[in-house]
Amino acid sequence: MSYALEVRNLRARIGDLEILTGVDLTVPFGEVHAVMGPNGSGKSTLSHVLMGKSDYNVEGDAFIDGVDLSGMTVDQRARAGLFEAFQYPIEVPGVSLDLLTTAMAESNPEDPGFGGRIAATSERLSMEPFRSRALNVGLSGGEKKRSEMYLLGVANPKVAILDEIDSGLDIDAVREVAAMVEALRSEDLGVVIITHYSRILRYMSVDKVHVMVAGKIVRSGGPEIAEELEGSGYTEYQVAAAG
Ligand SMILES: Nc1ncnc2c1ncn2[C@@H]1O[C@H](COP(=O)(O)OP(=O)(O)OP(=O)(O)O)[C@@H](O)[C@H]1O
Ligand SMILES: [Mg+2]
Repeated sequence: MSYALEVRNLRARIGDLEILTGVDLTVPFGEVHAVMGPNGSGKSTLSHVLMGKSDYNVEGDAFIDGVDLSGMTVDQRARAGLFEAFQYPIEVPGVSLDLLTTAMAESNPEDPGFGGRIAATSERLSMEPFRSRALNVGLSGGEKKRSEMYLLGVANPKVAILDEIDSGLDIDAVREVAAMVEALRSEDLGVVIITHYSRILRYMSVDKVHVMVAGKIVRSGGPEIAEELEGSGYTEYQVAAAG
């Protein structure tokens, strides 16, 4: 049986700086996992490295549904079923959401489901007013996150990594994003939510919480870890990692 995502001893360096120091992470199909950790611990880097961003020297293994990602381009990883929702969605003047989703559909002729997913996700997230506008240009922080969720719904990946999809959102929007992730939950998808706050986890169920410190996962357990961290912070883990 293969997992949605399997990461083994993943390391990433830029020059002499080792940012990921041996990440092990397994997300079965059908599950939603949260990764929490202090600023600068490597959470976004993990997401970028998995997606194939080329800035890093990478060692270790990563698999999507049993398929080895090593040597694959960003495009190949997306086709293998990996989706990354960015912490800081980029603005792309001249490219609308409609253009992007049309291009996604046309470059995946073997997947006839795009039209239906575009219509359904657009309605669910009330994306109509945003679809013809340039990607993320002039959108509020919350609207950008909603665009990311829209693309996730349209892309229909095997693994979705949502990097701080809850940051900068008002309370209703956090609930909405949580509900969207819940609605997408399926036996064909594994989700990784990178977050700083247990708040979003109150509105959705997560199967596991992982604590990332100094470039690796130092603790994994149930959702109770998130509440615990809210009280205790990361000092104890950081001291242990430094020692
Ligand atoms: N291109 C780069 N060049 C140099 N250092 C980098 C680069 N990318 C990331 N880093 C460093 O790697 C570390 C991890 O960064 P990363 O963005 O992964 O942290 P994070 O856990 O996502 O933090 P946050 O919670 O603040 O989003 C940081 O110290 C960052 O400065
Ligand atoms: Mg980050």
